[in-house]
Parts: sequence; structure tokens; C-alpha cells
Amino acid sequence: MDSDIASQDGLEKPILEIDNLTVIRSGKLVLKNVNLTVNKGEFVGIVGPNGSGKSTLLLAILGVLKAQEGNIKIYNSKPMSRELYGKIGWVSQAAANLPKDIRITIKELVHLGTVNAKNMFSHTWLPMKDNKRNKKVKEAIEMVGLQDFENFDIGRISGGQRQRAVIARALATEAEFILLDEPLVGMDRESRNSLLKLLDRFCHNNGKTIIMVSHDLSAIRQTTHRMIFLEETIRFDGLTANFPDLDSLAKLRGITHTHEQEMGSEYEN
Ligand SMILES: Nc1ncnc2c1ncn2[C@@H]1O[C@H](COP(=O)(O)OP(=O)(O)O)[C@@H](O)[C@H]1O
Ligand SMILES: [Mg+2]
Repeated sequence: MDSDIASQDGLEKPILEIDNLTVIRSGKLVLKNVNLTVNKGEFVGIVGPNGSGKSTLLLAILGVLKAQEGNIKIYNSKPMSRELYGKIGWVSQAAANLPKDIRITIKELVHLGTVNAKNMFSHTWLPMKDNKRNKKVKEAIEMVGLQDFENFDIGRISGGQRQRAVIARALATEAEFILLDEPLVGMDRESRNSLLKLLDRFCHNNGKTIIMVSHDLSAIRQTTHRMIFLEETIRFDGLTANFPDLDSLAKLRGITHTHEQEMGSEYEN
């Protein structure tokens, strides 16, 4: 599978290089022979049915799960390397399920994003100046459209708003490479669309690189330029415009027509 569809100027190393990755969890083979290269500025969508290994892949990239075989390089460093601290943003699948009894406002939550990643791990970081930090927080909150709610407790806002607050926290860090796992769950159509537009702009205007996992095929299709279909291994990787129809997808998955219905319903949205 040829994944080198983005910038090939050869001047910049890819942000992410995965070579022949195999991950086994509790004795079960979850990922095998995954090869993936992501270049700076790309907005990559990863789709696949439930349990196909999407979250596992992100956890392996983050270095939380170890590879049984193969190799992962981020900015030419191994996952979890000291060089990567502060460079990677992560919005987890359960992000919106923040405990509701925590008394913290949206603004405070987003503020935490600007202090966490670097000062927890490294003694050599230079703290962002306060006014710079406040500006980052303000911008991030505006980007997700929560400026009218910034002083609301996170326990008092809707699930979709909470999801956006968590994303704002990731945007307020200075992370260059952002991984999102199912960020659209629990969001209504309108906030989903505005979030997708926002992420797209974030890639193009701010030079960020994003990998977004979602089972919402139509939402991903509408935004990303490159799509990956993952099911144990990468079965499609290419321009979104070339993403296969359900029929061809079934063939890629090695299943027969009787399953087509199942695929359709899985991705209805
Ligand atoms: N903590 C775990 N221990 C063992 N197996 C797991 C664990 N979490 C997930 N799995 C298995 O790994 C496979 C892939 O899961 P996951 O990456 O979460 O899929 P997806 O995110 O695509 O829905 C599933 O078969 C799941 O049962
Ligand atoms: Mg998952």
C-alpha cells in the first residue's frame, strides 16, 4: 500500500513513520503488518468497524502499547521519547466523560493544557509567558466556539460542549501533532461540522498534523484529504476522493456480499 501521497519534497522528515507494526493485546493479534507514513500538514482520517484496532493503533503511536514487531518513529524518535514531550496532543475516546463533580470551568480546563505536557516531565522547559498563555487559551476557546461559556463549570455544559472543551485543551498546547480518538461522539450535527472545519483549518493554516479516528464515515469523508481503512491491517490508504464504495470495501475486507448490509448500517450517519 503506497501511503506517500502528501508532500514529497524530501526536505522534511515525515511526522510519523510506522514500519511493519504488529500489536498483540492479551494474547490476541490486534494489528499486523501496519505500514503508515504521515507528513506534516496532513489531516488523516482512520475508519474501520468496531474492534478493528483503531484505538490500539493510536495507543501504540503514543507508546502506551508496545509493538510486538515493527517500528514506530515520531519526528524520528521512538514513542514516549523525551524529545516528543509537548509535541503531541491527544484527545481520548472518553474525553467528554470528564467527571461532572469536578468544579472547574472551561477556561480553567483549557488553561491546564498549556501547563501540563511540558512541566510535568521536563526540567528544561521554558514556561510560556502568562500573557502568551492567556492568548493561547482564548484563541483555543474561540476556535471551538465556546467563548460565551468559558466561565461555565464543565459539569454544567452539554456533552458536545464538553467534547469541544477537551479539544480546545489540546489546541491550546503547542502540540504540532494531534491524535483524536472518536472526537465526534455525542455531538450534534452542527457542532460536529464546525469542529471538522476547525480541525481542517488548524491543519492548513497552523501547519498542524492531525490523525482522527472515527466510525463516522460520512463525517470523515467530508473533511479529511486522506483516509485509511483499518481492520487488523491497513486495507485502504489514499485520497478521500478515491475511498472505495461499500462493495469494493467488502472485497478489501475479504467478506462476501451478505455482510454488505452490516457494513452499511455500521456507517450510517
Ligand atoms: N485492554 C485490552 N486488552 C485486550 N484486548 C483489548 C483491550 N482493548 C481492546 N482490546 C481488543 O483489541 C481489539 C481492537 O480494539 P480497539 O483498538 O479498541 O478497536 P477500535 O478502536 O477500532 O474499536 C478488539 O478486539 C478488542 O477486543
Ligand atoms: Mg476505539
